[in-house]
Amino acid sequence: MNSTALQGQSALITGADSGIGKGVALAMAAAGANVIINHVDAHEVAEQTVDEITAAGGKAYAIHADISKEDEVKAMFVEMYQQYGTIDILVNNAGLQRDSRFIDMTLEQWNTVIGINLTGQFLCAREAAKEFIKRGVVEGRSRAAGKIICMSSVHEVIPWAGHVNYATSKGGISMFMKSIAQELAPHKIRVVAIGPGAIQTPINKSAWDTPEALNKLLTLIPYNRVGEPEDIGKLATWLASDEADYITGTTIFMDGGMTLYPGFADNG
Ligand code: BGC
Repeated sequence: MNSTALQGQSALITGADSGIGKGVALAMAAAGANVIINHVDAHEVAEQTVDEITAAGGKAYAIHADISKEDEVKAMFVEMYQQYGTIDILVNNAGLQRDSRFIDMTLEQWNTVIGINLTGQFLCAREAAKEFIKRGVVEGRSRAAGKIICMSSVHEVIPWAGHVNYATSKGGISMFMKSIAQELAPHKIRVVAIGPGAIQTPINKSAWDTPEALNKLLTLIPYNRVGEPEDIGKLATWLASDEADYITGTTIFMDGGMTLYPGFADNG
Protein backbone atom coordinates (compact mmCIF):
# COMPACT_ATOMS: atom_id res chain seq x y z
CA MET A 1 0.00 0.00 0.00
CA ASN A 2 1.48 3.39 -0.77
CA SER A 3 2.32 5.75 2.05
CA THR A 4 -0.46 8.20 1.26
CA ALA A 5 -3.42 5.83 0.73
CA LEU A 6 -4.96 6.94 4.03
CA GLN A 7 -3.37 10.39 4.20
CA GLY A 8 -5.10 12.76 6.59
CA GLN A 9 -7.67 10.17 7.69
CA SER A 10 -8.30 9.41 11.34
CA ALA A 11 -8.50 5.76 12.34
CA LEU A 12 -9.55 4.24 15.63
CA ILE A 13 -8.29 0.71 16.17
CA THR A 14 -9.68 -1.06 19.21
CA GLY A 15 -7.40 -3.47 21.05
CA ALA A 16 -4.41 -2.03 19.22
CA ASP A 17 -1.82 -2.60 21.93
CA SER A 18 -0.95 -6.11 20.70
CA GLY A 19 -1.54 -8.80 18.11
CA ILE A 20 -3.62 -8.10 15.01
CA GLY A 21 -4.73 -4.67 16.27
CA LYS A 22 -1.16 -3.50 16.60
CA GLY A 23 -0.36 -4.83 13.12
CA VAL A 24 -3.30 -2.87 11.71
CA ALA A 25 -2.33 0.31 13.57
CA LEU A 26 1.27 0.18 12.28
CA ALA A 27 0.12 -0.46 8.72
CA MET A 28 -2.51 2.30 8.72
CA ALA A 29 -0.09 4.81 10.25
CA ALA A 30 2.47 3.89 7.56
CA ALA A 31 -0.23 4.65 4.97
CA GLY A 32 -0.66 8.15 6.38
CA ALA A 33 -3.53 7.74 8.86
CA ASN A 34 -3.64 9.42 12.26
CA VAL A 35 -4.31 6.47 14.52
CA ILE A 36 -5.85 5.98 17.92
CA ILE A 37 -4.44 3.02 19.84
CA ASN A 38 -7.29 1.84 22.06
CA HIS A 39 -6.33 -0.48 24.88
CA VAL A 40 -7.64 -1.71 28.19
CA ASP A 41 -5.18 -2.11 31.08
CA ALA A 42 -2.12 -1.95 28.84
CA HIS A 43 -1.09 1.69 29.07
CA GLU A 44 2.67 1.22 28.81
CA VAL A 45 2.47 -1.19 25.88
CA ALA A 46 0.08 1.13 24.08
CA GLU A 47 2.43 4.08 24.64
CA GLN A 48 5.30 2.00 23.20
CA THR A 49 3.26 1.49 20.04
CA VAL A 50 2.57 5.23 19.92
CA ASP A 51 6.33 5.87 20.23
CA GLU A 52 7.09 3.30 17.51
CA ILE A 53 4.67 5.02 15.11
CA THR A 54 5.87 8.50 15.99
CA ALA A 55 9.53 7.49 15.51
CA ALA A 56 8.63 6.26 12.01
CA GLY A 57 7.13 9.68 11.22
CA GLY A 58 3.49 8.76 11.86
CA LYS A 59 0.84 10.11 14.17
CA ALA A 60 -0.66 8.11 17.02
CA TYR A 61 -2.36 8.60 20.37
CA ALA A 62 -3.40 6.03 22.99
CA ILE A 63 -6.83 5.95 24.65
CA HIS A 64 -7.88 3.64 27.44
CA ALA A 65 -11.44 2.26 27.22
CA ASP A 66 -13.24 -1.00 27.93
CA ILE A 67 -15.26 -1.24 24.72
CA SER A 68 -17.97 -3.35 26.34
CA LYS A 69 -18.97 -0.32 28.45
CA GLU A 70 -21.15 2.31 26.79
CA ASP A 71 -19.92 5.28 28.85
CA GLU A 72 -16.26 4.39 28.22
CA VAL A 73 -16.86 4.06 24.47
CA LYS A 74 -18.60 7.44 24.34
CA ALA A 75 -15.77 9.06 26.32
CA MET A 76 -13.20 7.48 23.96
CA PHE A 77 -14.88 9.03 20.91
CA VAL A 78 -15.01 12.45 22.62
CA GLU A 79 -11.28 12.17 23.36
CA MET A 80 -10.58 11.09 19.79
CA TYR A 81 -12.44 14.12 18.40
CA GLN A 82 -10.44 16.38 20.75
CA GLN A 83 -7.25 14.93 19.25
CA TYR A 84 -8.13 14.58 15.57
CA GLY A 85 -11.46 16.37 15.12
CA THR A 86 -13.31 13.44 13.55
CA ILE A 87 -13.15 9.75 12.56
CA ASP A 88 -12.82 8.29 9.05
CA ILE A 89 -12.01 4.65 9.82
CA LEU A 90 -13.09 2.39 12.67
CA VAL A 91 -11.36 -0.95 13.05
CA ASN A 92 -13.48 -3.01 15.42
CA ASN A 93 -10.66 -5.28 16.40
CA ALA A 94 -10.64 -5.91 20.16
CA GLY A 95 -11.49 -9.48 20.98
CA LEU A 96 -10.70 -12.22 23.45
CA GLN A 97 -11.24 -15.89 24.21
CA ARG A 98 -12.48 -17.53 27.41
CA ASP A 99 -12.33 -21.18 26.39
CA SER A 100 -14.23 -23.94 28.13
CA ARG A 101 -16.00 -27.21 27.48
CA PHE A 102 -19.63 -26.24 26.81
CA ILE A 103 -21.19 -27.89 29.85
CA ASP A 104 -18.63 -26.26 32.15
CA MET A 105 -18.83 -22.80 30.61
CA THR A 106 -19.78 -20.16 33.15
CA LEU A 107 -22.15 -17.30 32.45
CA GLU A 108 -19.24 -14.98 33.14
CA GLN A 109 -17.13 -16.64 30.41
CA TRP A 110 -20.05 -16.35 28.00
CA ASN A 111 -20.87 -12.73 28.85
CA THR A 112 -17.26 -11.55 28.80
CA VAL A 113 -16.71 -12.85 25.28
CA ILE A 114 -20.04 -11.64 23.90
CA GLY A 115 -19.57 -8.30 25.69
CA ILE A 116 -16.18 -7.51 24.16
CA ASN A 117 -16.33 -9.34 20.81
CA LEU A 118 -19.90 -8.47 19.80
CA THR A 119 -21.46 -5.76 21.99
CA GLY A 120 -18.17 -3.83 21.87
CA GLN A 121 -18.36 -3.79 18.06
CA PHE A 122 -21.95 -2.54 18.25
CA LEU A 123 -21.10 0.29 20.66
CA CYS A 124 -18.10 1.51 18.66
CA ALA A 125 -19.75 1.19 15.24
CA ARG A 126 -22.80 3.13 16.44
CA GLU A 127 -20.67 6.06 17.61
CA ALA A 128 -18.60 6.06 14.41
CA ALA A 129 -21.67 5.85 12.15
CA LYS A 130 -23.27 8.86 13.88
CA GLU A 131 -20.20 10.97 13.11
CA PHE A 132 -19.91 9.66 9.53
CA ILE A 133 -23.54 10.59 8.83
CA LYS A 134 -23.29 13.98 10.52
CA ARG A 135 -20.09 14.91 8.63
CA GLY A 136 -20.59 13.17 5.28
CA VAL A 137 -18.01 12.76 2.53
CA VAL A 138 -15.03 15.12 2.70
CA GLU A 139 -13.88 15.94 -0.83
CA GLY A 140 -10.30 14.93 -1.49
CA ARG A 141 -10.00 12.71 1.60
CA SER A 142 -11.97 9.59 0.68
CA ARG A 143 -14.82 8.63 -1.61
CA ALA A 144 -16.67 7.23 1.41
CA ALA A 145 -18.09 9.11 4.37
CA GLY A 146 -16.61 6.43 6.58
CA LYS A 147 -15.34 2.87 6.76
CA ILE A 148 -15.96 0.27 9.44
CA ILE A 149 -13.82 -2.87 9.47
CA CYS A 150 -15.02 -5.62 11.80
CA MET A 151 -12.46 -8.20 12.89
CA SER A 152 -14.20 -11.54 12.60
CA SER A 153 -12.51 -14.94 12.30
CA VAL A 154 -12.59 -18.15 10.33
CA HIS A 155 -14.86 -19.17 13.23
CA GLU A 156 -17.53 -17.00 11.65
CA VAL A 157 -18.12 -20.13 9.57
CA ILE A 158 -16.06 -22.95 11.16
CA PRO A 159 -17.74 -24.39 14.28
CA TRP A 160 -15.33 -24.66 17.22
CA ALA A 161 -15.91 -27.13 20.05
CA GLY A 162 -14.68 -25.81 23.38
CA HIS A 163 -15.05 -22.23 22.18
CA VAL A 164 -18.80 -21.78 21.72
CA ASN A 165 -18.83 -18.28 23.21
CA TYR A 166 -16.11 -17.16 20.79
CA ALA A 167 -17.56 -18.84 17.68
CA THR A 168 -21.02 -17.45 18.51
CA SER A 169 -19.58 -13.94 18.79
CA LYS A 170 -17.89 -14.27 15.39
CA GLY A 171 -20.98 -15.73 13.72
CA GLY A 172 -22.87 -12.76 15.17
CA ILE A 173 -20.37 -10.31 13.71
CA SER A 174 -21.23 -11.58 10.23
CA MET A 175 -24.92 -10.63 10.44
CA PHE A 176 -24.11 -7.48 12.42
CA MET A 177 -21.73 -6.36 9.68
CA LYS A 178 -24.10 -7.22 6.82
CA SER A 179 -27.15 -5.62 8.43
CA ILE A 180 -25.45 -2.33 9.19
CA ALA A 181 -23.73 -2.37 5.78
CA GLN A 182 -27.19 -2.51 4.18
CA GLU A 183 -28.49 0.27 6.41
CA LEU A 184 -25.47 2.57 6.08
CA ALA A 185 -24.59 2.19 2.37
CA PRO A 186 -26.94 5.01 1.28
CA HIS A 187 -24.92 7.29 3.57
CA LYS A 188 -21.74 6.33 1.68
CA ILE A 189 -20.48 4.28 4.62
CA ARG A 190 -18.75 0.98 3.89
CA VAL A 191 -18.79 -1.89 6.38
CA VAL A 192 -16.68 -4.99 5.86
CA ALA A 193 -15.27 -7.83 7.94
CA ILE A 194 -11.96 -9.62 7.90
CA GLY A 195 -11.90 -13.31 8.84
CA PRO A 196 -8.35 -14.13 9.95
CA GLY A 197 -7.26 -17.73 10.32
CA ALA A 198 -4.39 -18.66 12.63
CA ILE A 199 -2.33 -15.52 13.05
CA GLN A 200 0.68 -15.63 15.36
CA THR A 201 -0.45 -13.48 18.31
CA PRO A 202 -0.79 -13.82 22.09
CA ILE A 203 -4.43 -15.03 21.78
CA ASN A 204 -3.38 -18.42 20.33
CA LYS A 205 0.18 -18.74 21.68
CA SER A 206 -0.40 -22.31 22.89
CA ALA A 207 -1.27 -23.32 19.31
CA TRP A 208 2.14 -22.33 17.87
CA ASP A 209 4.76 -21.95 20.58
CA THR A 210 6.01 -25.56 20.62
CA PRO A 211 7.07 -27.56 17.53
CA GLU A 212 4.39 -30.20 18.29
CA ALA A 213 1.61 -27.62 18.56
CA LEU A 214 2.79 -25.84 15.43
CA ASN A 215 2.87 -29.05 13.37
CA LYS A 216 -0.64 -29.89 14.51
CA LEU A 217 -1.85 -26.39 13.66
CA LEU A 218 -0.25 -26.53 10.20
CA THR A 219 -2.38 -29.58 9.30
CA LEU A 220 -5.29 -27.10 9.30
CA ILE A 221 -3.58 -24.64 6.95
CA PRO A 222 -3.13 -25.81 3.32
CA TYR A 223 -0.78 -22.90 2.59
CA ASN A 224 1.45 -24.28 5.36
CA ARG A 225 2.37 -21.19 7.29
CA VAL A 226 0.93 -19.35 10.25
CA GLY A 227 -0.19 -15.81 9.43
CA GLU A 228 1.36 -12.67 10.84
CA PRO A 229 -0.26 -9.47 12.09
CA GLU A 230 1.34 -7.67 9.11
CA ASP A 231 -0.75 -9.82 6.74
CA ILE A 232 -3.95 -8.52 8.31
CA GLY A 233 -2.53 -4.99 8.58
CA LYS A 234 -2.04 -4.84 4.81
CA LEU A 235 -5.53 -6.14 4.07
CA ALA A 236 -7.21 -3.77 6.53
CA THR A 237 -5.32 -0.81 5.07
CA TRP A 238 -6.35 -1.73 1.55
CA LEU A 239 -9.98 -2.29 2.58
CA ALA A 240 -10.05 1.16 4.20
CA SER A 241 -8.57 2.82 1.11
CA ASP A 242 -10.44 4.07 -1.94
CA GLU A 243 -9.00 1.16 -3.93
CA ALA A 244 -11.64 -0.94 -2.17
CA ASP A 245 -14.37 1.68 -2.55
CA TYR A 246 -16.88 -0.74 -4.12
CA ILE A 247 -16.59 -3.35 -1.36
CA THR A 248 -19.20 -3.39 1.37
CA GLY A 249 -21.14 -5.99 3.32
CA THR A 250 -18.82 -8.94 2.96
CA THR A 251 -16.18 -10.87 4.90
CA ILE A 252 -12.76 -11.38 3.36
CA PHE A 253 -11.11 -14.49 4.80
CA MET A 254 -7.34 -14.30 5.15
CA ASP A 255 -6.43 -17.72 6.41
CA GLY A 256 -3.94 -19.62 4.20
CA GLY A 257 -6.87 -21.83 3.15
CA MET A 258 -8.16 -22.80 6.60
CA THR A 259 -11.75 -22.39 5.38
CA LEU A 260 -11.11 -24.87 2.52
CA TYR A 261 -11.90 -27.84 4.80
CA PRO A 262 -8.38 -29.34 4.47
CA GLY A 263 -9.58 -32.57 6.12
CA PHE A 264 -11.32 -33.33 2.80
CA ALA A 265 -8.09 -33.12 0.77
CA ASP A 266 -7.65 -36.90 1.06
CA ASN A 267 -10.94 -38.01 2.58
CA GLY A 268 -14.68 -37.92 2.01
C1 BGC B 1 -8.65 -17.60 17.15
C2 BGC B 1 -7.33 -18.31 17.29
C3 BGC B 1 -7.28 -19.51 16.36
C4 BGC B 1 -7.72 -19.16 14.96
C5 BGC B 1 -7.85 -20.39 14.07
C6 BGC B 1 -8.88 -17.27 15.70
O1 BGC B 1 -10.04 -16.54 15.53
O2 BGC B 1 -8.62 -16.42 17.95
O3 BGC B 1 -7.14 -18.73 18.64
O4 BGC B 1 -5.97 -20.04 16.33
O5 BGC B 1 -8.96 -18.48 14.98
O6 BGC B 1 -8.54 -21.43 14.68
